[in-house]
Amino acid sequence: MHILFAASECVPYSKTGGLADVVGALPRAIAQLGHQATVYLPLYRQTQLPQAATAIASITIPFDDRYRFCSVVDGGRHHGVQYYFIDYPPYFDRDALYGTPLGDYTDNPERYSLFCRAVLEASKILGVPDVFHCHDWQTAMIPVLLRSLYEEDPSLSGIPTVFTIHNIGYQGIFPPDTLPLLMLPWDLFTISKLEFFGKINFLKGALVFSDYITTVSRRYAHEIQTAEYGFGLEGVLRGRSSTVSGILNGVDYDEWDPSRDRFIAARYSPKSLAAKQDCRRDLLKSFALEPETTAPVIGIVSRFAAQKGFDLIALAADRLAREDVRVCVLGSGDKTYEDLFRRLVRQYPGRFAARFGYDNEMAHKIEAGADMFLMPSRYEPCGLNQIYSLRYGTVPIVRATGGLDDTIEPWDSRSGTGTGFKFREYTPEALLTSVQAALNVFQVKAEWRQLMMNGMKRDFSWLVAAREYMKIYEKVSAARHAAV
Ligand code: ADP
Ligand code: GLC
Repeated sequence: MHILFAASECVPYSKTGGLADVVGALPRAIAQLGHQATVYLPLYRQTQLPQAATAIASITIPFDDRYRFCSVVDGGRHHGVQYYFIDYPPYFDRDALYGTPLGDYTDNPERYSLFCRAVLEASKILGVPDVFHCHDWQTAMIPVLLRSLYEEDPSLSGIPTVFTIHNIGYQGIFPPDTLPLLMLPWDLFTISKLEFFGKINFLKGALVFSDYITTVSRRYAHEIQTAEYGFGLEGVLRGRSSTVSGILNGVDYDEWDPSRDRFIAARYSPKSLAAKQDCRRDLLKSFALEPETTAPVIGIVSRFAAQKGFDLIALAADRLAREDVRVCVLGSGDKTYEDLFRRLVRQYPGRFAARFGYDNEMAHKIEAGADMFLMPSRYEPCGLNQIYSLRYGTVPIVRATGGLDDTIEPWDSRSGTGTGFKFREYTPEALLTSVQAALNVFQVKAEWRQLMMNGMKRDFSWLVAAREYMKIYEKVSAARHAAV
C-alpha cells in the first residue's frame, strides 16, 4: 500500500514535541514492513535540507483576496521514506513553527489550510496514495476538503483518510468568517460539521469527515470520550466510537538508547550499568550542581504547558525542596512556568536547577544522567519521555493518565515487578507520596537496580504499532472499495 503522511512537524526537519518524533518514526516502520510511505511537511525556516530539488515549481491555492502560489521541494528518500516540503515563505519562513511566547500566529488557519490544499494538489502530480494519514488539527482540512470541495475530483474521490489525535487540547478554533477566506462553503458551518459554539473547529471537521480516528494510547482513546478529557469534542467522538481506537506510540531506539546515544557522556546498557554514573556527574556539572552528591537526581524535560502538571509541582515544590534531592529541569513554552522555575532556582539553589529553551542534546543528557524522571501531567495522550526514561534506567514517576498509565507499571517490592511510580489524584499530596516512595526504594540499592532493569528491558519498538496501523489502513481501504 502507499500511505501519505501529512503533518506539521517531523524529526529531523522540525520539532516542538512528541508529534515530530512520531511522524519521524512511524513512516519508516511502515516502509520497513514493505509499504510505500510519503511524508509531506511545511518547509519552515528551521528545516535543514542537505539535498533539495524542486519537485513542483508552482501550485495555485485560491484565497478570497488573491491567488497564492507555493512550490513543492523534494527532500529525497531516507530510510525508505520519501519526503516532500510545501514551500511558501510568507507563511513558513518565520522564527517559530506555530507562534511566539505571546501567542499563536493569527494567520494559522490560512497557513495550515494552504498546506492541506497544497498536499492534495501535489499528490495528484507526485502520486495519489491508497490512504491519507493526517495528524492533529493542522492537517484536519485534508479530510474536510476531500469530502467537500474535492468530492468530485476523479483522482482523489474515494481515497480514505485516517486521522490521529495527538492532543485534543489543540483544536484549531477560529472565527466563522475564516470559512469564506479559505474559500470553504458555508454549508460546513453546521453543528454536524465544523460549527463549534459559534466558531469553526478544524479538529471537529477531521473527526466528522475522516474514515477512521486513532489516538496515541488506549487509555486516552477512552478518556477523550468523557467530558473530563474531551475538551468539548467527547460527544462527537462517542458518536464515532466504533471507528476510534488507541495505538500506543513506539520509540525510535536508534535515537533513544543509552548503548548508542551520541549525545551522552558515556554509553551504558543493562549489562554494563556503571557508566550511568558518568552521565550523572556530567549532568550535574552541566546544571552547576555538586557532581559527587549521592542524592537522587530527578529530571524533567517538557514543553512548558498547563497539560504537563506544573501547577502541581508549584504546590509541591517547597515540600520537595526539604528532601535531599536534586531537580534538573529543561523546558520551554509558557512564561508562567519559566518564572516558576526561575523562582525555585533562586529560592533553593543547589536543589533546583533549570535551563530554558529547546535543547535536544540536553534532553538526552537528562534522560541518561537522572535517577528518576517526573511527569505529573494533568492529561497525557501518550507521552514519550517516560518511555525513553525506561530504556535509560531512569525511573519514571508519573500521574496515572493516558499513555502514562498504559506504559508504567507500579513497582511492587514483594514481587520485584514494575517499572515506576504512579499516582492518580491530581493533588500535590499524591505527587509527594509517589516521590517519597521512589526516594525510599532508591535507598535500597538491590531493589532500585531491579526496578531499573525491569524498565530497561521493556521494548516499545515501532514495528508493533506500525502493524496495528496497517490493519486500520487495510480496513478503511476495503470499506471504501466496498462502498464504490
Ligand atoms: P509532548 O509531545 O506533549 O510535548 P512527549 O512526551 O510526547 O510530549 O514528547 C516530547 C518530546 O519533545 C520528547 O522527545 C522530548 O525530549 C522533547 N522535548 C520537550 N521539551 C524539550 C526541550 N525543551 N528541549 C529538547 N527537547 C524537548
Ligand atoms: C502530543 C501529546 C503527547 C504524545 C505526542 C505524540 O504532543 O501531548 O502525549 O506523546 O503528541 O503522539
